Amino acid sequence: MADSDILNKFESAQEEKIIDTDKKVRVGIIGTGWIADAHVVAYKDCPDVEIVAGADIIPGKAEAFFKKHGIEAKCYGEHTEMLADKALNLDAVSVCTYNKTHAVCAIDSLNAGLNVMLEKPMCVTTEEAVEIMRAEKKSGKILTIGFQPRLNPNMKKIKEIVDSGVLGKIYYIQTGGGRRRGIPTPFGTSFIAKDTGCIGALGDIGCYSLDLVLNAIGYPKPLTVSGYTSDFFGTDPDYITYKESGHSEYAKTFAVDDFAAAFVRLEGGIVLDFRIAWAMNLDTPGDTVIMGTKGSLRVPSTDCWNGTFYSPMKIYQEVAGSQVCTEIPLIPPPKSLFYLKIRSFVDSFKEGTSATVPSSQILYNQAIIDHINKSARLGKEVKVEIPEI
Ligand SMILES: NC(=O)c1ccc[n+]([C@@H]2O[C@H](COP(=O)([O-])OP(=O)(O)OC[C@H]3O[C@@H](n4cnc5c(N)ncnc54)[C@H](O)[C@@H]3O)[C@@H](O)[C@H]2O)c1
Repeated sequence: MADSDILNKFESAQEEKIIDTDKKVRVGIIGTGWIADAHVVAYKDCPDVEIVAGADIIPGKAEAFFKKHGIEAKCYGEHTEMLADKALNLDAVSVCTYNKTHAVCAIDSLNAGLNVMLEKPMCVTTEEAVEIMRAEKKSGKILTIGFQPRLNPNMKKIKEIVDSGVLGKIYYIQTGGGRRRGIPTPFGTSFIAKDTGCIGALGDIGCYSLDLVLNAIGYPKPLTVSGYTSDFFGTDPDYITYKESGHSEYAKTFAVDDFAAAFVRLEGGIVLDFRIAWAMNLDTPGDTVIMGTKGSLRVPSTDCWNGTFYSPMKIYQEVAGSQVCTEIPLIPPPKSLFYLKIRSFVDSFKEGTSATVPSSQILYNQAIIDHINKSARLGKEVKVEIPEI
């Protein structure tokens, strides 16, 4: 997919909803890179939001970012400088930094008494996720994790199907996806370097595939993980995208996974078979399949990071002795999932409701990712250990 196509997914969209604009909420942006664009476009579509500040550790980056968006915002270097300026009267922040600094930015923002929209993946390790949740608990503020595919009605349908009971008891799930050539380096190396990205395809798009199925089945606790990761494409100086962009040196910077696979045992006797690729010599590693005692659901291989469905889901069942297959009609997606993600975040703290994508669920998503890495390093199955919050 071309970069322009990716950005089109974030295009501006206004929903028909009566919004109380009497008091504007004051928002700051931490990290003014690629994804911060999509946040700002969505906040600008919220008439009750004012973007008042932003921080980026790269000198001049926040200033240039807000100039490009035509916003007069106060600019800072490190996130701590912005959080220390109490005169800003911030209500909320979007944490749009690379994975490495998700935890510190989220924790510091919650400790400063702010509501937090934290980009995915939640962070890098299980321990960081636990620390974030401790800060969330202490603060009493809203923390939501940036999984916009959740707002796609076809994604919601997966959960509705499981919840309806039509599949019976779920016992086996296969999920994942990926791209033939799709290591994300259009804006530099922050996804592939160890000191910024920390985790590769696993954290970038694997987290979405996991969320697609785990949300549908109510996020059971992961018990054990046997994981594998590899980096054959990312470390190859002849990798086509590096060569085409004149950046063969990215192969030396590449220090994360570009493919991962795992077998995960979940509470409730469910097993999860998972694989994800930023690059592979294959069109897709397969559809998502949720198998149950009364029926199974096939979700056609999706562009999992943005919740796109290209063809209908199918349910396979036995009806009166006949083996039948039912197609679930595709629901047209909303114009901008990103707008809905930001709107639902703002609504949650304005209206005192709960987070759209709560940390209590994504903790398990993060624990699976982290334990895939641990298991891959050790070369054996590992027990999932999650400290008390
Ligand atoms: N939801 C989505 O669809 C989606 C899409 C792309 C990226 N993402 C996520 O968004 C995050 C950022 O991705 P990106 O492509 O925008 O990265 P990026 O490297 O373009 O931008 C990150 C910015 O954060 C800044 N930064 C890091 N630590 C900071 C700190 N402590 N204080 C202030 N600034 C700091 C960096 O200088 C950089 O400019 C990643 O975690 C990625 O997984 C989400």
